[in-house]
Amino acid sequence: MENIQQNINTKELIEIKAPIVEALKQAYENPTYQFHIPGHTKGKAVFKDFRKLIGEKALSIDTTDEFDNLGTLHPATGPIKEAQELAAEAFGAKKTFFLLNGSTAGNLAIAMALTKKGQKIIVNRNCHRSILTGLMISGAEPIWVCPSRIEDWSIWGNIEAWQIEEILEKDTKREISMVWITNPTYEGVVSDVKSISVVCRKYGVPLVVDEAHGCLWNFNKHLPETALKLGADAVVHSLHKTGGSMSQTSMLHISKDSILDERAVEKALKLLHTTSPSLILLGSLDAARANLQSKNGQKLIQRAVLNAKYLRRRLDEIPNLHQLKSDFGYKTDVTKVFIKIDGLSGKRLESILEIDYNIEVESASDIGVLILCNLGNKRSDFKYLADCLEKIAQGHHKDIYYLEKRKHMPMLEPQIKMSLREAFYSEKETIRKDEAIGRISAEVVAECPPGISILLPGELITEEHLPYLNDYETLEVVK
Ligand SMILES: Cc1ncc(COP(=O)(O)O)c(C=O)c1O
Repeated sequence: MENIQQNINTKELIEIKAPIVEALKQAYENPTYQFHIPGHTKGKAVFKDFRKLIGEKALSIDTTDEFDNLGTLHPATGPIKEAQELAAEAFGAKKTFFLLNGSTAGNLAIAMALTKKGQKIIVNRNCHRSILTGLMISGAEPIWVCPSRIEDWSIWGNIEAWQIEEILEKDTKREISMVWITNPTYEGVVSDVKSISVVCRKYGVPLVVDEAHGCLWNFNKHLPETALKLGADAVVHSLHKTGGSMSQTSMLHISKDSILDERAVEKALKLLHTTSPSLILLGSLDAARANLQSKNGQKLIQRAVLNAKYLRRRLDEIPNLHQLKSDFGYKTDVTKVFIKIDGLSGKRLESILEIDYNIEVESASDIGVLILCNLGNKRSDFKYLADCLEKIAQGHHKDIYYLEKRKHMPMLEPQIKMSLREAFYSEKETIRKDEAIGRISAEVVAECPPGISILLPGELITEEHLPYLNDYETLEVVK
């Protein structure tokens, strides 16, 4: 058994401060007569059942950033400024911005601040739809890079440095102004970001990494290396996904030797963010960072890694069950366990787990289900899960997949006929799906999870798209 303490960096453990949490505590202990927003006034005017459910204490600290000496988000002042600085230090960044509205807000800010109409940006085809939205707003044009395909699992794999280099080499007019990649993929496939960053440096092009699913990486040596240490200029982290903060909270980091304009990012965030940021959400980001650095947090991360290894060992022993593992060209994040069972679709497996065993997984595709080994899970959770999967894999369940006939992970190379922005803002019409073949899409079709687009504005709709569009009766196309 590995020593659970071995990753603890004692220097980081001297004193863990959480300034927003501290300021909220002060505000709670020193209540004022409140004549300002939010109008529920510390929960007094809230629907009774909701108050009972969420608790009076939570409602009494539900405030925004202008009151009670809690600091402001834009510009960052007081405890919020201090908390962002502490986060930058913890993640190894020059500057960290707290994000409300998730990593979506970070991606939008990057696009708005750092890309312009007509500029060319290298982007992986399996990017999250927030990157597409950002590019539609700015008018920059993606040059798509299609990652490798992992056919057995019907998922996109890693991006290779040579793919980026090939495009940059051909760009003799130097029109490409940024490389924007996603790492890891939703299923935990990890690309060689170091080599990609070396290529970007060689051509003097900044590298932005959407590391939404990798916010724990800087805190444990058994996890992949964060792009902040591998030469990326900016990195986005969804702390709420795996880092322990509350839903919709994320961080955007600017790396220490970034060549990007951080002030432009700050200005864009000011415009994109709500003007009434929730102190509870900001406090939860502060708390999550403090927790990850704390002795207890370090133990939780190490426990998650060990639990993941335990689960993987158990799964290896189950006949008919397969798990996605590191392979030639790519690595995987041990805590994201993508599995499949012979004879069952992922969707069917998901419903058996849910209905028969009261287990909810992260997501299911046509092929398999994705299990996240989270900080909050105990070893007994994984024992139960492995026992249930063992029973299911014995093959007593029938697949009812034919009832659903869905396709969840499109792996199509886009045939671009018009720019993203031009198509999105063009005159549109809504037509029946089966009449749409040969037309140009005017909308982003991207179901969550994982939010990867099936169709994007400007892309030719082909027969190959139809199996992925079962939930759609009509489509919006360019008129
Ligand atoms: C790769 C990636 N980037 C960005 C996002 C957006 O994150 P958020 O939900 O925090 O806005 C997601 C969400 O699933 C994602 O998978």
